[in-house]
Amino acid sequence: MFLEFVVAFAAIVILAFVGAEIQRRRVYRVSGKGPSHPNSTGVLGMLYHLFPLPGRIESVALRHFELYKKYGREDGLYMGVLGHRILIFVADPVAYKQIFTQTKVFPKFQLGSTLFLGSENLALANGDIWKTQRHIINPAFYNINYFCPTFLDLTDKGLDAWSSMLASEPNDFLEVSPSSHITNITIDILGKTLLGVDFGAMENKTILALESYYFLFKSMDNTLSLLFPFLYKVPTQYNKMFWFHLNNFNSFMSNVISKSRKKIIDQSNVSHLTLLDMMVASQDQDTNAKLSDQELRDNAVVFFLASHDTSAASLGFALYELGNQHEMQNRLYQEILNVVGPTEAPTYEQLNNMPFLINFVTEVLRLYPPVGSVIPRVNTRDCVLSGYHVPKGAIIIPQIWCTHHSDMYYGDNVDEFDPDRHSKGNIDSFANIPFGSSQRKCIGQQFSLIEQRMFLVRLLQRFKIDLCKVNRISDDFKIRLSKR
Ligand code: HEM
Repeated sequence: MFLEFVVAFAAIVILAFVGAEIQRRRVYRVSGKGPSHPNSTGVLGMLYHLFPLPGRIESVALRHFELYKKYGREDGLYMGVLGHRILIFVADPVAYKQIFTQTKVFPKFQLGSTLFLGSENLALANGDIWKTQRHIINPAFYNINYFCPTFLDLTDKGLDAWSSMLASEPNDFLEVSPSSHITNITIDILGKTLLGVDFGAMENKTILALESYYFLFKSMDNTLSLLFPFLYKVPTQYNKMFWFHLNNFNSFMSNVISKSRKKIIDQSNVSHLTLLDMMVASQDQDTNAKLSDQELRDNAVVFFLASHDTSAASLGFALYELGNQHEMQNRLYQEILNVVGPTEAPTYEQLNNMPFLINFVTEVLRLYPPVGSVIPRVNTRDCVLSGYHVPKGAIIIPQIWCTHHSDMYYGDNVDEFDPDRHSKGNIDSFANIPFGSSQRKCIGQQFSLIEQRMFLVRLLQRFKIDLCKVNRISDDFKIRLSKR
């Protein structure tokens, strides 16, 4: 039995390497010279470079950065293979311009519908479906000013928790691991602004819908079931839980959606519209199309997935840098005093008129991009990228992390945290793309930026921040807060 297993495994490995070699030769045949590629990486190697190790999301970005430095730094792209597919990893701003602006030639690769995520949503759809949805949803994100009072209230509520903990400390400082509290603040902000629901994440309330969301969110780590959803039909204990949470989440969403539809039809309480209400009310100007319940549900899920972790991660890294860089912390505080004052609530206009704060957040997103590599694209015809012929059907994976960390675009001080680099006007706009670019740029960019700036202003108005001793940045790093 063991021998058969070893023989079968060896056969798979040999086939993988033969397949990989055939693919490489295909690229060479078309181009005369292929992108540099990881020599040792066949199917198995690519799997290692594509999927995170359990609990180490950042590890994919770092592993790719090693490949990039070795094979792609000069040209801005490198190659791999997975099964019969050629994968082209791109980090070159010139190629980005081509990929992100020509959405018909480089549509998003269809990952297939997943049970939780669905497929009828803005992030995954292509062509006319995407265009219609974007037309309908865009207006909801035009007026972020409208959501500022909610950002303010919930940020203050989150900071009140730290203030009262500090007040009951025997010392005049408080040490906290900020990550999970910040995630809870962003979840509560999203619950309120998107759905009008108080999840009470900050108070650790047990809301079943939120528990179901967390379970389903975590289930997305299970790559195998994501690729082969029929595996969820196997009657295991875990799968029973999965279906329980999926059904529970879906009925919660359908309840919220029908309340929102009723609110719009009755024109009741319209002075407090949520993003969902706005999406329900909106229609495509060209076609008069509206979103179906399924589309509303799938988009709401995407907003959750795309937003709570990303904004929270960015704020976590901002705290890390604030604790590390006291001189910058003082500069930020001075700007806050000059523009907003020591205790006043900042207005939307003020949050858009604080150059150092804006550059600070921009640099956090440059050095620690929460989305290290965007949804893969597929090229629909033979094309030339960064001087190399890339055959039709190849999968193209933009590597934002690599671009943001490349000395080719940021010079020798690429690894330094330097907000002022963003006021010098010498950074290629396609070399700094934490929110993606062009038509498929993040719809929630302004939402997240204002949410983050609001948090940082309110935080620094109350506290001085130090970093507790840490060797490396990690999920559970600690900061030390003391009263201003
Ligand atoms: C720091 C925070 C965020 C970062 C770094 C981020 C990053 C990104 C990136 C890189 C893309 C482009 C993906 C691609 O081209 O494949 C994207 C798209 C998207 N983001 Fe965000 N995002 C953030 C916050 C948000 C928020 C707050 C929302 C919604 C409330 C959101 C919703 C979306 C959606 C729906 C798309 C797809 C847009 C389309 O294709 O038309 N994101 N985001």
